[in-house]
Amino acid sequence: MNEFYQNDIISIKDYNKEQIEKIFVATDKIMQLNPSDRREICKGKTLGYLFYEPSTRTRLSFDAAMASIGGNSLGIADVLSSSAQKGESLADTVRIMSIYSDILILRHTLDGSSRFAAEISDKPVINAGSGTEEHPTQAIQDLFTIKKEKKKIDGLKIGIIGDLKYGRTVYSLLYGLGNYDVDVRLISPESLRIRHDSIYEIKKRLDFTESTNLEEHIDDLDVLYVTRIQKERFPDEEEYLKVKGSYVVGLDLLKQMKDDSIILHPLPRIDEISPDVDKTKNAKYFEQAEYGKHTRAALLSMILNENGF
Ligand code: NCD
Repeated sequence: MNEFYQNDIISIKDYNKEQIEKIFVATDKIMQLNPSDRREICKGKTLGYLFYEPSTRTRLSFDAAMASIGGNSLGIADVLSSSAQKGESLADTVRIMSIYSDILILRHTLDGSSRFAAEISDKPVINAGSGTEEHPTQAIQDLFTIKKEKKKIDGLKIGIIGDLKYGRTVYSLLYGLGNYDVDVRLISPESLRIRHDSIYEIKKRLDFTESTNLEEHIDDLDVLYVTRIQKERFPDEEEYLKVKGSYVVGLDLLKQMKDDSIILHPLPRIDEISPDVDKTKNAKYFEQAEYGKHTRAALLSMILNENGF
């Protein structure tokens, strides 16, 4: 039996390097299948999605991934149109969704929401973003992108810039990178440094430096992972306005980077990467979004098939 079978994906911390690499191998395998063989993998299986926060890529990539392996999807993309609006609890909504689907994908504003849903659901739950806490499948896609584009993860110098306080993709990525031998530079405005309550967890896993100045590191990096300032999570709009537009990656900055460095972003991008950068060979954020479909297809295939595929 494959170890992912019928298991939840709540936190990237639950996975070691060997398991993460197994997901990469499965993703490579699935990418090589021809479309008709690929559509046999999860024929007749249903993915249910439940999104309490906006999403474009995560929901659609799960949807596209499921279709590409022959399954179908149903769900609630906007809770305002569901009975949650009438006051139905998360617990009841999850219970109902797990009757109609073989696997549940949940995005919710609260930390701990996916862990809670997994306790209630009879079907496996995948965390598609839990508050400011984690977004494990994004980290898998980010790590896979680094591996594909740089041919390795160990030994790389990785800068992570932007909203390190509220950006959940940053936390999952850092926990995931903890399995590798990497040199991590965290770059953010002072008020958006990594949260104190998570520093201990991260320090246990990897070494990093913190700085407010991108220029200090720019010519040294192999990977620059840019994040959006998470406006919606600021308790106070004034605080957001102070840091809005703190960093903008443009062609001038790119000139200072190593020729073979790559720029990643979980997207959506607001103004932190100038659109001029999109057409350069270093910009890999659209490839990253595409890899997300394949890593998710691999995960769904392993979770829903006892013997893998
Ligand atoms: C991220 C998220 O929802 O955490 N988006 C995504 O899933 N790719 C990043 C963000 O919203 O900034």
